[in-house]
Amino acid sequence: MNQPILEVKNISKTLGGKLILDDVSLSLNRGELKVLIGPSGGGKSTLLQCIHYLINPDKGDVLLEGRSAAEMGRRNICAFRQEIGMIFQDFNLFDHLNAENNVAVALRKVKGLTKEAALKRARQELERVGLADKATLYPAQLSGGQKQRVSIARALAMDPKVMLLDEPTSALDPELIGEVLNVIVDLSKSGMTMLMATHQIGFARHLTSEIIFMERGGIAEAGPPSVLLAEGSCSRTADFCSKLTELLGKNG
Ligand SMILES: Nc1ncnc2c1ncn2[C@@H]1O[C@H](COP(=O)(O)OP(=O)(O)O)[C@@H](O)[C@H]1O
Ligand SMILES: [Mg+2]
Repeated sequence: MNQPILEVKNISKTLGGKLILDDVSLSLNRGELKVLIGPSGGGKSTLLQCIHYLINPDKGDVLLEGRSAAEMGRRNICAFRQEIGMIFQDFNLFDHLNAENNVAVALRKVKGLTKEAALKRARQELERVGLADKATLYPAQLSGGQKQRVSIARALAMDPKVMLLDEPTSALDPELIGEVLNVIVDLSKSGMTMLMATHQIGFARHLTSEIIFMERGGIAEAGPPSVLLAEGSCSRTADFCSKLTELLGKNG
């Protein structure tokens, strides 16, 4: 069981004639939480989308429990993708469905559950993210933090082996960030394996085993927060984080 649950091997991707990802490799052990950090445009979102095969990498491979995505046919890639949960900055909920149906829809269409079974599972997952009392509300009736928690419940309902989170709190008002981070903390404590792009430095500092600093399509440095963010550290990560904190301080 020493094999990593997720291995990203030498991924490269060119988009619009520009090399966006240049030979990126990383791996996650079961239950591990790693954070991607770095300047905007550095390739974090493209990397997460390549890992999920929303974008096909030009080179490289993604292995989930040792199974190579590059060697899978189209049909198996669909199954592979279902085993990875993806959370986006802007929630991606269906506006015309209430919270429980947002969670239930893929359970019915992809997993083939009956309406009753899908709704039962949906309510369980909504309860897990603290939204049992909001199940029948529509996205327009929910706060940003609640919408993001619905999208997390939806991902969890599919029993993913790994969750990828792309700046899940970046679209939220500051007072709503905590409720979403708390759900992510609980998930991590429950043993979920996660790779998360975020600028929440406090979160990264205290909860992740490794910070991966990305810029210009590559990993500039990676290491445990205790090293990269140590007092007096001259790491790129420490420099970036101190600039972020300065910026946040100035803007309130
Ligand atoms: N479809 C695309 N066509 C061309 N360039 C793209 C496309 N998608 C992303 N890019 C470029 O890739 C770079 C990395 O973007 P992105 O992965 O979103 O970075 P990050 O998430 O770190 O901000 C940016 O320069 C962006 O403009
Ligand atoms: Mg991004």
